[in-house]
Amino acid sequence: MTLITDDRRATTAAPIEEILSMRWSPRSFDETATVTDEQVTSMLEAARWAASASNAQGRRFIVGRRGTETFDRLERHLMGFNRMWAPKASLLVLAIVVTPEGDQPAGALRWAEYDAGQSMANLASQAHALGLHAHPMGGIEVEALRDEFDLPQHLVPITVTAIGTVASPDLLPEKYRERETAVRTRLPLDELVLVRD
Ligand SMILES: Cc1cc2nc3c(=O)[nH]c(=O)nc-3n(C[C@H](O)[C@H](O)[C@H](O)COP(=O)(O)O)c2cc1C
Repeated sequence: MTLITDDRRATTAAPIEEILSMRWSPRSFDETATVTDEQVTSMLEAARWAASASNAQGRRFIVGRRGTETFDRLERHLMGFNRMWAPKASLLVLAIVVTPEGDQPAGALRWAEYDAGQSMANLASQAHALGLHAHPMGGIEVEALRDEFDLPQHLVPITVTAIGTVASPDLLPEKYRERETAVRTRLPLDELVLVRD
């Protein structure tokens, strides 16, 4: 069962879509929960349909459900505390940025990192719509992941995102529980927006 986490809702100066205000990145996942094939496909479709510069789609994914060899191969290369909490998620998604091969001009791939980020934001929104939560991690061993999956030099691992059913903060070691329930903050709009007319 998905925990009701209304206290995690973003405080906004004007209303925003529920799916955006209620998205947050938990570390406590229910290790008994699973995702269906259809849910995985639905999240990947959301990622696929994100915008990209010149529709170059400079992003690739490696996806493993918990209990599969792919999940274990991804989990192995999470760093630090990520390695402790993320393996309880139901799904790990490695996002990969496509960079130009050899001396090829970058062209639209100049924005591939942005485009990969857009696709993962779409994926996170779709996860939320399915009653799931997503937590991106930059704390990953980039070179080890490249070796693990035999990725050529122009494919660069950028994040692994843990997706699953949020669980009680009490399941985390004491020192990390507080982070799970702390008030979510952002820069105020007048600091974030440099010019607004
Ligand atoms: C690119 C990226 C890398 C991140 N890396 C990590 C990470 O390695 N470990 C972690 O616990 N959280 C990581 N996070 C999660 C952020 O800390 C989190 O999104 C931020 O504190 C805002 O919280 P919210 O997502 O709950 O709104 C990362 C988020 C992004 C977008």
